[in-house]
Amino acid sequence: MPRFYITTPIYYVNDLPHIGHAYSTVTADVLARYHKLFGEEVRLLTGVDEHGQKVEQAAAKRGLSPQAHCDEMQENWRKIWLELGIEYDVFFRTTDAFHKKAVQDCLQELWDKGEIYAEDYEGLYSVSEEIFYTEKDLVDGKTPQGNEVVPIKEKNYFFRMSRYQKELIAHIEKNPDFVQPDFRRNEVLGFLRQPLHDLCISRPKARLAWGIEIPFDKDYVTYVWFDALLNYATGMGYQQKERAQEFQTWWVDTPPVHLIGKDILTTHAVYWPTMLMALGVPLPKTIFGHGWWLAADGGKMSKSKGNAVKPLDLKDIVGVDSLRYFLIRDIALGNDSTFAPELVVSRVNADLANNLGNLLARVTNLVDKNFEGAAPALPSPLAPETTSLFQSLEGLANRVREKIEALDPQGAVVQVVEVLNEANKYVGDRAPWKQVKTDLPAAAETLGACLEVLRVAGLLLTPVMPTKMQELLQSVGWTPKPNFADARKTRAIPVGAKVTKGDPLFPRVEWKSEP
Ligand code: ME8
Ligand code: MG
Repeated sequence: MPRFYITTPIYYVNDLPHIGHAYSTVTADVLARYHKLFGEEVRLLTGVDEHGQKVEQAAAKRGLSPQAHCDEMQENWRKIWLELGIEYDVFFRTTDAFHKKAVQDCLQELWDKGEIYAEDYEGLYSVSEEIFYTEKDLVDGKTPQGNEVVPIKEKNYFFRMSRYQKELIAHIEKNPDFVQPDFRRNEVLGFLRQPLHDLCISRPKARLAWGIEIPFDKDYVTYVWFDALLNYATGMGYQQKERAQEFQTWWVDTPPVHLIGKDILTTHAVYWPTMLMALGVPLPKTIFGHGWWLAADGGKMSKSKGNAVKPLDLKDIVGVDSLRYFLIRDIALGNDSTFAPELVVSRVNADLANNLGNLLARVTNLVDKNFEGAAPALPSPLAPETTSLFQSLEGLANRVREKIEALDPQGAVVQVVEVLNEANKYVGDRAPWKQVKTDLPAAAETLGACLEVLRVAGLLLTPVMPTKMQELLQSVGWTPKPNFADARKTRAIPVGAKVTKGDPLFPRVEWKSEP
């Protein structure tokens, strides 16, 4: 069976999730569910990044030990993913004992191989990004992300990242899918045109106690990024003898797709592959840096800036599935987009209440009233306009699959929406509410064709809106577990299957912004 392994970033537990985190996680979940629909075996890993200064500070602010803070926060993250319908296989915590041990084993291995050395170091440090900068990296005295830096001088341990610069460039150039989208790949290659420095991978406990102890120097903890990046591999059994087979299957044989935001591209596309090279571990398949949802004022929505809309706020207004739909439909994976509640409401009303919901309501109502709720038989031959609608429907499943395989979930959804638009036009033209009075066989054809469109659309949108599409499939008389083979058929609903009209699947959302 083909396999698919996808990861989200593991998020800092200095605060609760906001719409940006929900976006990465929902997108990964949607991709994972599509691959399951295609019949593949899938792993979705998400989780939390618990060490480092940011988390330590957040815990101190609340008067809690870092561990107690993390234990509490991770519950909130899990709960919100559950509410958003995220079907993860692994919820990763960097404070888990097996991970700490695995990270120490990696450090020891690299130390023994001479890939790590100690040196006095002076640099400019961004606490919020947990990254050292040099003067020339700064823009107006701040990091490229606009964060403050403070000067720091201390002895530290360094990973010989510079050794791997050539090998990394060669890998990126040879594997066009390794860093995506293309413009991000060029960004990384641009960055690698300058000399690559070695990576500081330790923090003195005197300054930061909250981290994984360096196995060969008890006065130091591991740099949070070195610890965190390893999660993707240790989560599948890396450095654990008893899980060797799992690691072979879910890393070596099925290299992962890392879905991340563009803010953490360098750590993933430069630090991480060079770490793996030094450890002699195969590289991931793809690192996809998606864009940002921006606040209406153009700024990035973030926990630290406090302008984030909590995803749950909108989920309660428009519904979970509708919010998931918006997040996939309104942004091309890779680009930035503006997030505003008004945009969510208008998208949901246009695409789901009007287009999809209306078609379903019209068709099921007419079948209920005029055909005793039994799916009518399609005649043959079909009218030319029905034939042409079926032609669009026929290739739909494959078109959707191509888009998903190209990591374009928006494109996949748009394919379905286009066929739904066509079906709405078809219904408008054939006016089955008139046909039922004058020409019952013609009405049967119109309604039967639309039931098939709804069935296929329902199957192909299941990964995006799992709950609502199950209801839709039920009401068009389709009960088998969703699978891709059925989405490729165009005449599958059995004649006489029970069609039910229910409450509107997507009621129009009336919503006014706060004054
Ligand atoms: O960076 N739009 O965690 P983090 C889109 N712990 N996506 C957004 C976003 C926005 N406005 N804001 C955040 C870390 N994200 C590290 C990761 S991985 C080994 C360690 C998403 O809590 C996006 O995926 O700061 C971004 O990369 C991530 O949240 C950063 O989450
Ligand atoms: Mg961040």
